[in-house]
Amino acid sequence: MTGRGAGRGGAEAGNEVLCVGIVNLNVVFKPVPADLMSRDVALAESIEYLCGGDAVNQAMVLSKLGRRAAVAGKLGDDAVGRMILEQLSESGVDISGLRVSRARASGLCAVMVRPDGSRNFLAFRGGTEDYGPEDFSGALLSGVRAVSIGSMFALKRLDGGGVENILRAARKRGALTFADMKSDTYGLGYRGIRRVMPQLSYFLPSRDEAAYLSGEREPRAMAERFLADGAANVVIKLGDGGAYVRGAEEPEGFCCAAYDAPVVDTTGAGDNFVAGFISATLDGKGLRESAEFANAAASVSVGVLGAHGGVRSREQVELFMRSAAKRGAHG
Ligand SMILES: Nc1ncnc2c1ncn2[C@@H]1O[C@H](COP(=O)(O)OP(=O)(O)OP(=O)(O)O)[C@@H](O)[C@H]1O
Ligand SMILES: [Mg+2]
Repeated sequence: MTGRGAGRGGAEAGNEVLCVGIVNLNVVFKPVPADLMSRDVALAESIEYLCGGDAVNQAMVLSKLGRRAAVAGKLGDDAVGRMILEQLSESGVDISGLRVSRARASGLCAVMVRPDGSRNFLAFRGGTEDYGPEDFSGALLSGVRAVSIGSMFALKRLDGGGVENILRAARKRGALTFADMKSDTYGLGYRGIRRVMPQLSYFLPSRDEAAYLSGEREPRAMAERFLADGAANVVIKLGDGGAYVRGAEEPEGFCCAAYDAPVVDTTGAGDNFVAGFISATLDGKGLRESAEFANAAASVSVGVLGAHGGVRSREQVELFMRSAAKRGAHG
């Protein structure tokens, strides 16, 4: 099995955004009781098999927003990998940057969604843990306007130096650079990824992740730390509180409230936010408008089961922005 050539057509098709990171299959169970682990059996009412992982989610949503998006990551040579490829092939996302691991099975994630829409993951990273510098081809950067690292702390063989090199190469070619992150499962600490900050046009962690890295309690102080370490702009996602944003264009920083949307499943909310933010930024929008659009895309996404089924088009998100109410902003 090979991911090469199975997608939309590679660099010659002129990708705008390259998303590098986790590629897996999400098996989504709903509803899952909060006391699952103390029960012998719990019955789910629904189950879905959906390709996912941060890089896939971002690329799928970007594609729905009208961006030519590519995904780079690693699968196993197995039935799960083939399901992922089949779904991606139908999505319009360029998969020429996918590689197949000889050593690891495809990543699989059990997504357990509680009745209130919050969720827990049991993740097997698989091929993603095997994605190394030799798997990344510089040709993937050809012509792209933005490169997004789906999650720092998730690419075991690339974190720190490898990610830094990809972003440096992207910037040399004039692309904007974006990175989100995951919790620090491999125990690298901020020391392990701090060197990446100067290569980032936009750093977009969640509040808990930013607190872990910075040791700070307030979004303003967290952002100050990452800006001081070299990130050009910082966007801290605050769940239903929206986002805190700070950068040269907005030196005082500001909070952008989320929308008051029904919540079915928050899986991938962060990825939808990042995809929305990237798309608006590529439209030439400033920090405020990009954060608004990102909040809207993410709020649309939490209304639907799965990580990339909510956003269907740019027009849909724009219509949502005009019609939906805002939640109160949190600091
Ligand atoms: N309950 C909610 N209602 C409306 N919007 C929400 C809700 N939860 C999250 N969002 C939107 O999703 C965005 C990202 O959510 P969050 O801050 O949880 O990011 P994250 O922790 O990176 O997410 P993920 O769990 O996908 O990694 C928020 O900034 C907000 O726009
Ligand atoms: Mg996140």
